[in-house]
Amino acid sequence: MLDSIYEFFAEIGFTHPLHAMVVHMPAGMMVGAFLLAITGLLFKRAALAQSARHCVILVLIFFFPTVLFGFMDWQYYFSGAWLDEIIIKLAVSGALLVLLILGVLLGRKGKFGSKAVLIIYTLGVFAVIAAGYYGAELAFGSRAPVAPPEYMAGEKLYMRNCNACHPYGGNIVNPKLSVIGAPELIDSRIFLAYLRDPKQPKGSIAIMPIVPATKVTDEQATQLFDYITKVLERPRRPLDQSLYPMPPS
Ligand code: HEC
Repeated sequence: MLDSIYEFFAEIGFTHPLHAMVVHMPAGMMVGAFLLAITGLLFKRAALAQSARHCVILVLIFFFPTVLFGFMDWQYYFSGAWLDEIIIKLAVSGALLVLLILGVLLGRKGKFGSKAVLIIYTLGVFAVIAAGYYGAELAFGSRAPVAPPEYMAGEKLYMRNCNACHPYGGNIVNPKLSVIGAPELIDSRIFLAYLRDPKQPKGSIAIMPIVPATKVTDEQATQLFDYITKVLERPRRPLDQSLYPMPPS
């Protein structure tokens, strides 16, 4: 069901997360509401306070498709994994919803607006910034951290063999299939099997090259694995066990 929605959009040439398409509406409106409210209060202009409240009503309207699309993207791109960023975004969105309702209700009273309403709008702006920050963390990932000495060998291997297509653990060829969060990272032996014979996961365009032992030895693959999992990231999406059954340990 969800997949077919994304496949439909891909067919008409839209391959980006849906949330990114709508999130600017409430975010921009919230900042606008704040600016209108503060000017209304400073210059005692009732019309500006009114406009601020109307903006907040629009934020409230756009809140729902934005959260819905965010939820869908989360299911589709992250398999609904409970990442820290998601938990923070959910909490912040909940708080924003309360603030919006309060803002709409209280914004009606007070001709030029009131300090209480301004505080609510200000908190709303902070909520929007926090949600945006963690959204960007999810979408672009944090930049590759500096490798501690024990992972230097792995980092070198990564830079030489993988970084061109997978900068910072991402994937510039097929952004959906980043190294960060790849299911093959669950186990070093599965990771090795993948390098030697990259079976194509769903949605792949089969560009991931076979990495032979002449390029990266088994021992080096372990260093690479350690660098990716300990320095770059941890697995985020569940492993398709039919492709890579867990080897007995
Ligand atoms: C020429 C570009 C290219 C290079 C070089 C490359 N990869 Fe990939 N890799 C891809 C592409 C594209 C995919 C997605 C699958 C596909 O479409 O082939 C992928 C997929 C993967 C995946 C699975 C991702 C997922 O989410 O399922 C892992 C893990 C991976 N690569 C690791 C590596 C490692 C480690 C190296 C270096 C040894 C490397 N890749 C080098 C292009 C590359």
